[in-house]
Amino acid sequence: MTQRMANLLVCMISFLVLHLGCCQSVQDTECSNYLTEPSGVIFSPNYPLNYSVLLNCFWSIEVPEDNFVILNFTSIRTECGYDYVTVYDGSGALFPQLGWFCYQPDGIVVRSTSNTMHVTFSSDSVVTDQGFYATYTSMVSHAQCVETLSDLEGSLQSPFYPFNYTNNLLCTWLIQVPDEYILQLRFTKIETECSQDFVYVFDGSDSAAQLMGRYCDTPSEMVLVSTANLLYVVFTSDTAITKRGFYANYTALEKISSCNEVLTNLTGEFTSPYYPMYYPNHADCSWLIEVPVGYFISLSFPYLDTECGPDFIAVYDGSSSSDRLLGTYCNVTGGQRLTLDSRSNSFYITFISNTFVTRKGFEAYYEACEEFQL
Ligand SMILES: *[C@@H]1O[C@H](CO)[C@@H](O)[C@H](O)[C@H]1NC(C)=O
Ligand SMILES: *[C@@H]1O[C@H](CO)[C@@H](O)[C@H](O)[C@H]1NC(C)=O
Ligand SMILES: *[C@@H]1O[C@H](CO)[C@@H](O)[C@H](O)[C@H]1NC(C)=O
Ligand SMILES: *[C@@H]1O[C@H](CO)[C@@H](O)[C@H](O)[C@H]1NC(C)=O
Ligand SMILES: *[C@@H]1O[C@H](CO)[C@@H](O)[C@H](O)[C@H]1NC(C)=O
Ligand SMILES: *[C@@H]1O[C@H](CO)[C@@H](O)[C@H](O)[C@H]1NC(C)=O
Repeated sequence: MTQRMANLLVCMISFLVLHLGCCQSVQDTECSNYLTEPSGVIFSPNYPLNYSVLLNCFWSIEVPEDNFVILNFTSIRTECGYDYVTVYDGSGALFPQLGWFCYQPDGIVVRSTSNTMHVTFSSDSVVTDQGFYATYTSMVSHAQCVETLSDLEGSLQSPFYPFNYTNNLLCTWLIQVPDEYILQLRFTKIETECSQDFVYVFDGSDSAAQLMGRYCDTPSEMVLVSTANLLYVVFTSDTAITKRGFYANYTALEKISSCNEVLTNLTGEFTSPYYPMYYPNHADCSWLIEVPVGYFISLSFPYLDTECGPDFIAVYDGSSSSDRLLGTYCNVTGGQRLTLDSRSNSFYITFISNTFVTRKGFEAYYEACEEFQL
């Protein structure tokens, strides 16, 4: 470079500083931030003191490739309507907005879909406030989602939950506990793109086992109970549209060897297997209540909820299922309680369940009452 050219350059720079320096709000350099560390903090100028008027700031965050940026605002307090913080999903303000905030005193968390995020903050000429403070971290964007779980209690979730999962996933979870256990798997509400992204649950060790269900959008929590000590969960997503996904946890319960009981005390109680946990599939239980001659039995169900149709209790007015059937019942609704009186000194109760859909079942109490002597 010749001396003449160098002089010209110095001249041009001074010109720019002198003439554009006054139009400060165009881009305040103190307010232009480029962050490339995998984690860090960003905050409005002067935080926690009030920011000044006429700011026009930005923070451009770039974390290593194959990571997402998670931005966790601890607090945002700006003058709504005039001052605001905008978060963009990419390296500049031309990318889609992830959010636009002015007042979130309890904080808010946003996640990018790539390794860059752009945050802007602007204030007008009057009224200021504390501003905002946020930490950011990076999260590896490869879904790690092939797992074998063998603890007696555990959980699984779609990748990045509670953030949305990513496209093109094929995740599998094998839950395998010792032989003497069965599994109860409890999903919170499942949110996936119906018709394209699904959660499958198989009653065994792989996808050749019996399919218990295929789910995409459940209205509320759902519990599934395995037949044996194994469950296999598969989650797939297609090439577009993602949602929050799901979270599920499981508990292993010792297999109940038998659920046939004879009760002879004057008062007593019994419940469906595992109550208040969900009853198992294929339950075939019976209770014979037999009290001394001269008594009748008053039986009541303060709680009864089974899958109506395939699962039910049957109550026989006698000592076996060949006696008179008083009725079959699957639930009691509206805070009612089912109460039945025997004509003789015994009651025989059976409980049957079929596959897959199970519920809490029931609890029952009985009391022997002396027959009224005429
Ligand atoms: C955000 O920060 C708060 C406060 O430091 C913390 O309790 C919370 O777990 C963070 N959230 C996420 C998703 O990292
Ligand atoms: C800071 O902002 C708040 C909210 O607008 C305001 O009430 C307070 O007076 C400001 N404090 C100062 C020192 O300007
Ligand atoms: C994330 O999931 C929610 C629902 O679970 C959905 O409404 C939203 O559009 C999704 N966001 C993105 C960026 O896909
Ligand atoms: C399983 O999730 C439910 C909510 O869905 C929660 O109440 C329960 O405490 C969780 N259990 C375990 C062991 O994490
Ligand atoms: C029957 O009563 C006896 C004495 O009160 C008690 O020890 C026993 O546990 C009771 N049996 C059942 C099945 O409730
Ligand atoms: C209760 O049982 C009746 C039929 O017996 C059924 O129509 C109803 O859906 C059941 N209620 C619930 C909450 O399962």
